[in-house]
Amino acid sequence: MAVISVELAGRPYEVRVGSGLLANVAQECGELLRKPRVPIVTDENVARHWRQPVEASLVAAGKEPRWLVLPHGEATKSWEGLERTLDWLLAEEVERGDHVLALGGGVIGDLVGFAAAILKRGCGFVQLPTTLLAQVDSSVGGKTAINTHAGKNLVGAFHQPSLVLADLAALDTLPLREMRAGYAEVIKYGILGDSEFFQWCEAKGAAVIAGDKAAQEYAVTCSVEAKARIVAEDERETKGARALLNLGHTFGHALEAECGFSERLLHGEAVALGMVLAARYSARRGLITDADAERVASAIAASGLPSEVSALGLNRDGQALAAHMLHDKKMDAGTLPFVLLRSIGEAFLDRNVELTDVAEFLDRQLT
Ligand SMILES: NC(=O)c1ccc[n+]([C@@H]2O[C@H](COP(=O)([O-])OP(=O)(O)OC[C@H]3O[C@@H](n4cnc5c(N)ncnc54)[C@H](O)[C@@H]3O)[C@@H](O)[C@H]2O)c1
Ligand SMILES: [Zn+2]
Repeated sequence: MAVISVELAGRPYEVRVGSGLLANVAQECGELLRKPRVPIVTDENVARHWRQPVEASLVAAGKEPRWLVLPHGEATKSWEGLERTLDWLLAEEVERGDHVLALGGGVIGDLVGFAAAILKRGCGFVQLPTTLLAQVDSSVGGKTAINTHAGKNLVGAFHQPSLVLADLAALDTLPLREMRAGYAEVIKYGILGDSEFFQWCEAKGAAVIAGDKAAQEYAVTCSVEAKARIVAEDERETKGARALLNLGHTFGHALEAECGFSERLLHGEAVALGMVLAARYSARRGLITDADAERVASAIAASGLPSEVSALGLNRDGQALAAHMLHDKKMDAGTLPFVLLRSIGEAFLDRNVELTDVAEFLDRQLT
């Protein structure tokens, strides 16, 4: 097992990465579970595979697990899902000093984290991430949110978990497409800040996706270390460091919006395409070589993720895609900062990108 500490002033917490953590959840949580009653929120897919081992561990430790099983899918991260979760937590008499367990992917983690942030003005929570995406990204760093009619993740809070248990065994039941989507966020850490890790991904990405536990442990650990470092430096995304994590996300978000945030394009798939676009756009601006941009595209394609926007068959021009970017929540006083590359392994925030130039660039990528 690997242990990474997220060093936040006054309230550091651990991320543990290894196999079998869910089956041992009572011991892993230890003193955080101070009462017999333990509230756990999950979704129906995750419950099918992982309720039993979690339940068994808690019961063996003399606990009384209480379950809220929500529908799976992005729609659960809604006002309705939030209301249901809060009402349930209140009915379960959860107090400020208690911990709620969030068992699932980023949807459950974001929803339960936000509920914990506002329940009685803030109670504790533990992240039990069961997707690769949640293990390497959403469970660490304390961003919590729900979606509203106006868009995704526009209502939320910063609320850090007390502990994160990333059980690699959970990845064994994850559908392949979800696995690949999560892997996009893994390779992202290499592209944005660690050329050696990118090289490792080129060699071992397939093994991570195929279920090689040693490769998965290394990939998750490296990713969490990178995220922990950035979050410790810039917890609330005010200094620029945390914004680098948005590599591929501005382009990706436009593609997701174009696809109506549907199953047609998963978030990780959009990020994969977005990173290829960010790399190629960096080459267009003379920041990296065309060869390096294509190296990024190849590494992404090799993992089975989409790498060519033209293959999406969007039937839209660059301007239409760029128009989505105007509604990006990273818009800051009329400018949209773009994460671009100075090399593979070195991203930076460029605040001088003209959307008209982006639109022209996208026109060529779309055909
Ligand atoms: N808070 C953050 O910093 C942050 C960062 C990135 C993404 N996010 C959010 O995360 C969400 C996406 O997370 P996600 O990709 O984990 O999606 P998700 O939670 O919807 O999980 C994907 C699918 O896999 C199923 N599933 C989860 N674990 C499983 C397992 N072990 N076995 C079988 N099926 C399983 C789920 O039921 C769901 O159908 C988005 O809402 C996004 O906004 C948040
Ligand atoms: Zn992402």
